[in-house]
Amino acid sequence: MKQTNKSFGTVFTGHMFVMEWNAEQGWHNQRIQPYQDFVMNPACVNLHYGQEIFEGMKAFRAANNNIVLFRPVNHFRRMNRSAAIMCMPEINVEEVLQWLKKLIITDQQWVPHERGTALYIRPTMIASEVTINLKLASSYTFFIILSPVGSLFSQGFNPVSILVTENYTRASSGGVGQAKAAGNYAASMRAQKEAQRMGCVQVLWLDPVERTYVEEVGAMNIFFVIDNILVTPMLTDSILPGITRQSIIEWSKQNGIVVQERRIAIEEVIIGIENGSVQEVFGCGTAAVISPIGMLHYKGKEYEIGSKQVGPLTKKLFSMLTDIQYGATRDEQHWLELIE
Ligand code: PLP
Ligand code: COI
Repeated sequence: MKQTNKSFGTVFTGHMFVMEWNAEQGWHNQRIQPYQDFVMNPACVNLHYGQEIFEGMKAFRAANNNIVLFRPVNHFRRMNRSAAIMCMPEINVEEVLQWLKKLIITDQQWVPHERGTALYIRPTMIASEVTINLKLASSYTFFIILSPVGSLFSQGFNPVSILVTENYTRASSGGVGQAKAAGNYAASMRAQKEAQRMGCVQVLWLDPVERTYVEEVGAMNIFFVIDNILVTPMLTDSILPGITRQSIIEWSKQNGIVVQERRIAIEEVIIGIENGSVQEVFGCGTAAVISPIGMLHYKGKEYEIGSKQVGPLTKKLFSMLTDIQYGATRDEQHWLELIE
């Protein structure tokens, strides 16, 4: 077995998938090639105007040494949604999924075995036309790289402290926050730096218009358990529609847990933490799976949630997702796609 990352996303497998697009040929020159640097003209559009989208999904070692993908079609469909928002060409989901499977089979010795590890998959599309004129690019490159990973945060599955930022927002109303566009992540760094300066791990983002309603946490969606109800912000054009979020909602509804997707004011959360009605808070996403939140830092005060212990529903949902991913329980939802 090959090496797993010491630090998330710094080790890559031996091969990559690449293809190119232009209006005459559509997607063409599909190939699996040794992992290698790109030779890029310094006037390439993506380097100047950030026309770039990406995805993040995982493959796991399940029972009998099988390798499975978690909801890959949902990820590639979301990529097409991001492409539409960013005026980039759509991919053929079925065809790209077949190439991804071939790529993973080629590098199968890189899929780690230990529970808690995975092969992180990073499909990416960049505008590749050579011009510094500000216009819609006429050529694009799509590629997939693979990285064996452990947990995203050094804290593992332990509650973290979060800064509720009033100074910055992640995405604008009418902007591209619902797309997995590279620029959204570049724009989040300044708030993240402030959070770390305050001793917090991530930022809780409020809505960009009123700066009142909770949207996301870091690069994750957010859930609350309020009076035994699982509550999450309803989707807006500044929230990324997470596939982990969707999976948690679907499973919870099927298993008798009341779920609400609605607007959640930060004041409601703070009052609820103080009076005990906010019982649990957690972030969720592909890389982190579920990240329990033990403290909110808001307007200079610290609000401790559930005595900084991981709550019962947070634990249950983490086990549910990881048991399915590692084949410890039956995949009744049909979320897994076997690679053969
Ligand atoms: N929100 C943002 C901004 C993200 O980058 C991600 C990660 O992909 C998520 C939420 C969670 O999405 P998913 O569960 O599909 O990984
Ligand atoms: C993911 O959860 O896959 C993410 O996108 C986080 C990533 C930016 C590290």
